[in-house]
Amino acid sequence: MSNEVYFDLGHKLSIYDDIKQLIDESGEWFNYINFKGLQVPHKIAMKDAFLQKLYERHRFSIGVLKMMPYTIYTWHVDNMRRFTINCLMDDVKSHCLFATGRVNEYVHNVIELPYSDRKFFLANTDIPHEVMNFDQTRYLFTLMFDSPYDYFYILEDFLKNPI
Ligand SMILES: [Fe+2]
Repeated sequence: MSNEVYFDLGHKLSIYDDIKQLIDESGEWFNYINFKGLQVPHKIAMKDAFLQKLYERHRFSIGVLKMMPYTIYTWHVDNMRRFTINCLMDDVKSHCLFATGRVNEYVHNVIELPYSDRKFFLANTDIPHEVMNFDQTRYLFTLMFDSPYDYFYILEDFLKNPI
């Protein structure tokens, strides 16, 4: 079931210090679908070997999304993209839940996307999801693909041709 929601790509962000520096030094956070976003320059992202290989196969842009302490991004599907690849910058106390079924009007079945340790995950953003953040600012490293395809097409591609 979890493979329909997310997939651990088996790589970790290797340019954490560069991204952290960008976060610390940048004053330019733009509004991105109810988040504050930061554009990551292509040149910096391409220092990461996994991202470099991925870019040869699929074109994408890169950003960091900022979520303030004690906030919830309520149930939604991403209408700008059907899938994404994400990595949580720091293991802050937060939960990213995907609704996998509905018991009744008030109760959902959920699966948690287990962000940890700067691991990259492919995520199915066609499925309703909600993010809860607790006592620290949450920074999510995220890829926006120039792709008409959905999560399952990309998952199949990774399973057939792993990077
Ligand atoms: Fe989302």
